[in-house]
Amino acid sequence: MRFVLSSAPGKCILFGEHAVVYGYPAIAMALSLNSTCSIEEIEENKIEIILKNYNQSFISSNLEDFLSKIPPQFNQIGYCLKIINNRFNTKFKKIRIIISSSLFPSSGLGSSASISAALIMAINEFYDLYLQKEEISKIAYEMEKIVHGTPSGIDNTICTFGNMIFFQKGKYHFIEIPNDFLILITYTNVKHNTKEAIEQLRKLKNEQPVLCDLILERIGTYTEIAELELINGNLIEIGNLMNSNQKLLASLNLSNEVINEILKISFENGAFGSKLTGAGLGGCVISVGDKTTLKNLSSVLNNKGFKSLLSRIDKEGVRIEEKQ
Ligand code: PMV
Repeated sequence: MRFVLSSAPGKCILFGEHAVVYGYPAIAMALSLNSTCSIEEIEENKIEIILKNYNQSFISSNLEDFLSKIPPQFNQIGYCLKIINNRFNTKFKKIRIIISSSLFPSSGLGSSASISAALIMAINEFYDLYLQKEEISKIAYEMEKIVHGTPSGIDNTICTFGNMIFFQKGKYHFIEIPNDFLILITYTNVKHNTKEAIEQLRKLKNEQPVLCDLILERIGTYTEIAELELINGNLIEIGNLMNSNQKLLASLNLSNEVINEILKISFENGAFGSKLTGAGLGGCVISVGDKTTLKNLSSVLNNKGFKSLLSRIDKEGVRIEEKQ
């Protein structure tokens, strides 16, 4: 019986979230935390999909039946199968798909884009579709539109290609950094809704266009400077820029009390800098600092009830882990 297992990294945005939606640049890093997708051939004539993190499974006789059963919150998965079936006539049957993720959901770590990329890669390999990463990223972008409405495209790009990227208006280049780069990711315990955060900012921008444009432009400038500091490996300056980026995001009403509490703990425990990552209003906070400081900070935060994890850069992006 055939079997494939794929994985795709999660991501965090180091600089420029929200501004990137308005054409300014952003920098994202692929994480060593990932999502996985396996597809195995089964005897029974059915499609079985198991979503491990949600403890949910769906059994259908065919794709149409599956599309009618899948709850709206998992629409992206149904949509993915539908576009691939329409384009490649894959006729999904006799398969069990298992999707799992080590990323906190709705937390700014790109769990939806990483799941999409892993799912498309697994289908690609299982059905010999010969899709290149460019194409996988494009399909994942279509799926992101279902989840977010108007995504910038940064999440599907970084989760597909990995590494660290400078992204602007759909184009990107890799940032080569000289040293190993560690980031501490702390979950606020508050799920966020990217679509809502984007709409909240759009509303504010309609009410106060001049002020919002100035702030977004300044975020863009910090992002450009940050790229140079990343290339130089200047962690202290990267931390300062993160603090400045955070203040601007807070002035756009995208921060909250829990984020502030984590920022305070991080500052008091020697981080060089911290900021929210992704849509804000919850989700995760990222911090930079030297390795020992971050390890110590991680246990302080864990003791205070905030799950926090250290991550390196994932250099590979979406890939096949196993094939039989
Ligand atoms: O929180 P996330 O991972 O969905 O990231 C959203 C980042 C935004 O800049 C707010 C939106 C986008 O599509 O770039």
